[in-house]
Parts: sequence; C-alpha cells; structure tokens
Amino acid sequence: MAEQITAPEAERKKTIFSAIQPSGTITLGNYLGALSNWVRLQDEYRCIYAVADLHAITVRQDPKAFKQNILNAYALFLACGVDTDKSIFFIQSHVPTHAQMAWVLNCYTQFGELSRMTQFKDKSQKHADNVNAGLFAYPSLMAADILLYQADLVPIGADQKQHLELARNIAERFNGVYGNTFRIPDGYIPTVGARVMSLQDPTRKMSKSDENVNAWVAVLDKPEVIMKKFKRAVTDSEARVCVGEGKEGINNLIGILSAVTGKTAEEITLEFEGRGYGDFKTAVGEAVVERLRPIRERFDELIGERAYLEEQYRKGAETAQMISQRTLDKAMKKIGFLPR
Ligand code: TYM
Repeated sequence: MAEQITAPEAERKKTIFSAIQPSGTITLGNYLGALSNWVRLQDEYRCIYAVADLHAITVRQDPKAFKQNILNAYALFLACGVDTDKSIFFIQSHVPTHAQMAWVLNCYTQFGELSRMTQFKDKSQKHADNVNAGLFAYPSLMAADILLYQADLVPIGADQKQHLELARNIAERFNGVYGNTFRIPDGYIPTVGARVMSLQDPTRKMSKSDENVNAWVAVLDKPEVIMKKFKRAVTDSEARVCVGEGKEGINNLIGILSAVTGKTAEEITLEFEGRGYGDFKTAVGEAVVERLRPIRERFDELIGERAYLEEQYRKGAETAQMISQRTLDKAMKKIGFLPR
C-alpha cells in the first residue's frame, strides 16, 4: 500500500485566488492593479483564477455581447500571460459550487455589513432603476469564490479591499460557529498600480463605466488611441514632473509609468527634470503602448482559436469543480445538511 505523504505546512505552496469581471473593456487599471500580478505570481504560488461572469449580471447584460465578452476576457487573460500549465483558470459559471456556496454564505452575512459596502452604495446610485438583491449580496459570492479554494492570498486592486475584509469576517464567523472550515485569506495589493486613476479626473479611479472614453485606457486599445488619451490627460499648471500634493494627474501618470517600466518615482522625476508635460505624457503613452502591444497581438491570435479556448476553460472548470466541491461538502456537513 502506498504511503500517503502530506507536505508539511512550510513546504506547502500557498494558494492564490482572484477573479475579474468580463466587462466588455478590461482597463489598464485592471491590468496594473490585478492581472499583471496574477501573471507574476504563477511560479511561486498555486494560482487559481476565474472570469467572474456570475458577478457581471448584477447589472443588466445584453445576451449576445455578454457571451462574447466572457470568451474575450478568457482569451485576453491568457494573452496577458495566465498560463494554464501552471495555474487553474476557469469561467465562474461553469463551476456550480460558487453559486451554491454563495447561498450558504449569504446566511452567515449580515444585512448591515452588506449595506456598508461602498461599491454597493456607488452602484445602487448609478443603477437606481435596478438595485437588485444580487448587487447587494455580491460580496458573499466573492467570499464564496475565495473561501472555496482555501486561498491564502488574493491579488486585487485597492477598490476590492473592503470586499476582501468582509470575506475574512464571514470566514471567521463561520469558523467560530463550526470549527476550522475556511482558511482566512490575506489581500495582496501591489505597491504601485493598486489604484490607477481616471485620466480626465484623477481624483476618481479609472473605470470603464466612466462615460468619458478619454478617462480610461483599455488593454486592447490601439496604439494611436492610447497615445491620444495620454496626450489629453489632465495635469496641473506647475509644469514639474514630480509627486506632490494637488498634482493628482501627474502623480497618476508617474504611478502608471512606474508600474509599466519598474522605474521608481524618483528615477522618473530625475529623468524628466526640466522637461515639459507634453514630453512626459508622450513618454508615458509610449511605454504603455509597448507594454500592451504583445498582449493585443496575442489576443488577436487566440480569439480565433475557439477549440483551444474551449479545451482550456473546460480543463480549468473540471479541476476547479473538484477542489471546490471538497470545501462545499465540508461546510455543508458542518451545518448539518443530510448528504445525498
Ligand atoms: P473588477 O472586475 O471590478 O476588477 C478586477 C480587478 O481589477 C482591479 N481594479 C483596479 N486596480 C487598480 N486601479 C484601478 N483603477 C482598478 N480598477 C479595477 C480590482 O481591484 C480587481 O482586483 N468582485 C471583483 C471580481 C471578483 C474577485 C473575486 C476578486 C470576483 N470574485 C474573488 C478577487 C477574489 C470585481 O468586480 O473586480
């Protein structure tokens, strides 16, 4: 009989879970805040990533466009470097445990907690005609995503921090009632790129839902479009490239250049000493164009390889189902459900 060897805690590769919604436009903010880290972390960790399509129906979706956006997002994340030989990568709705676990966790999440979520407050104002229960309960679905895989770390941008904290609270509450069931996850928020701001109003985060298309850059924007958006970026009247108070526009551009090139803010300040904002904005645009060019080219190839994409997302869903079912079974058993 083979001896079962369990890796001691110290040798265990830590698990990472993260997901991104398949909104038609994946922005430079999504890329710098989350996706680029997904790619970087794949060698060191056991990574599990998803296209969060269930989350996307909290706002109304056009069926045809939605289907295409899900496939596009899957292909785009592969093009960014998510590697299905190293990581598990699937589409959330293909793995039913997510919706099942979300229901369970809904019953351990308080109305008051969900009411305090700033994203809920923002989105319910924006979509006042459709403040549905899914929009309200969305953070417990996100908690389900994370807790099903016993994730240690969750790479996210700063705007998702509050949801992650709620996931931790839900897990702690459940563990407190039933004994150790879920690992308590930590956030992994990058030091640069965690909050990429709008190019038109740098006091607000870059978001594809911004009506002004010049406010955001999409990963798949053409080079000339990217250049135009950066050239139009709002700055200030000081004409000095350095980080400072009241210089939100320049701070944001320095942050973007730093995230894209790996240079520090000090190095960037030195490099642009005595040079105007025109030069600087062109340089940031060019650096972003060069960083995104191979991604766009790879996406154009991949999106035509339908059979390959299907094979990859099916493989991902099978593995994800197997892993997540174990946690769902464990939680349901603890609650006292009668097994089938
Ligand atoms: P989503 O799809 O809105 O955003 C995906 C990721 O991109 C980050 N992000 C940004 N980072 C920096 N600057 C910005 N301007 C910017 N805009 C977005 C977000 O912080 C996020 O990391 N609910 C999540 C998706 C999700 C998830 C999960 C994440 C579902 N389940 C489980 C982690 C773990 C969402 O809507 O993110």
